[in-house]
Amino acid sequence: MKSFSIALIPGDGIGKDVTAAAWAVLQAAASKHNFNLEGTTFPWSCEHYRQTGAMMPEAGIETLRAFDAIYLGAVGWPTEVPDSVSLHGLLLPIRKAFIQYANIRPHRLLQGVTGPLRAQSFDILCIRENTEGEYSGAGGRVHSGTSDEVAVETAIFTRKGVERIVRFGFDQARARRGKLASVTKSNAQKYSMVFWDEVTRDVAREYPDIEVSHYHIDAMAARMVMAPESLDVVVASNLFGDILTDLGAAIQGGLGFAASANINPDRTAPSMFEPVHGSAPDIAHLNIANPIAAIWSGAMMLEHLGEADASRDVMGAIEASTAKGVGTVPGKDRTGAITDAILAAMV
Ligand code: IPM
Ligand code: MN
Repeated sequence: MKSFSIALIPGDGIGKDVTAAAWAVLQAAASKHNFNLEGTTFPWSCEHYRQTGAMMPEAGIETLRAFDAIYLGAVGWPTEVPDSVSLHGLLLPIRKAFIQYANIRPHRLLQGVTGPLRAQSFDILCIRENTEGEYSGAGGRVHSGTSDEVAVETAIFTRKGVERIVRFGFDQARARRGKLASVTKSNAQKYSMVFWDEVTRDVAREYPDIEVSHYHIDAMAARMVMAPESLDVVVASNLFGDILTDLGAAIQGGLGFAASANINPDRTAPSMFEPVHGSAPDIAHLNIANPIAAIWSGAMMLEHLGEADASRDVMGAIEASTAKGVGTVPGKDRTGAITDAILAAMV
């Protein structure tokens, strides 16, 4: 029997609840489709930071490298550990170390879900650059705490980095509806964003069958609200993609429905799957977190592992439940009830 080793990092807050939910559904899919998912759970979290002084051990990255995939719930507990410490100690280093340069985030309305827009039939795939750009971590502060204080944080865009994410976007567009929208702000940022536009035009020559359009981030934000049905694949830098995908989550009914995959397309290291939402400390103990984003992220993991039928089954079970109204209204159904409905629809 085929077997996959999965590193589970539930993390903080509702990350733990939604990881348990996703894992139960993934296990059901595995037994139905005759493969094994062998999970190893790591307690790396803000709690772990408080106990050990680190979000993960020094050898954490090397430990994770041995797995076929990583599944992460959510990281962060800002009243205990500053976000800038917790995220730079776990989530962001994993994305970079494993060259998970493509962050894939689908935005569409599941059956039975009413979004805030009139538009009901959009299907957007956001492709967010995930290793460099505004998240490069290059910068520093001097004269700290004085009136002469200076803070600098430089976005870094490399030809290699931009080319590969844009090419990835084109490949996705080719497998979908043949449209790619590249998002920059090249009217204001005249070096990095003009460079991104140029690289996109260069790569576009290899894809004459794809219809390419260029948007500024502000105009794209408006378009995602006014005419989301006009969009197919949207490619953006790390920060722009971060912002647009919370907007994408909003138009698909909320963060409870927004899934994501941090992919290393070359498969030189494990990819990581996680919902877009955070740890939501405010509702962490209420058992009302919607596990659908997490379960959908798990379906993306199965697809990445080559278990496409199982992945489709999980998506089918999610939509069979939402079509009946289970999990479609924030706070109405408990995490366990939504999970049970999806499990029941799996068989
Ligand atoms: C996301 C999150 C992270 C990001 C945070 C928690 C660092 O917002 O995955 O979208 O900005 O990438
Ligand atoms: Mn985000």
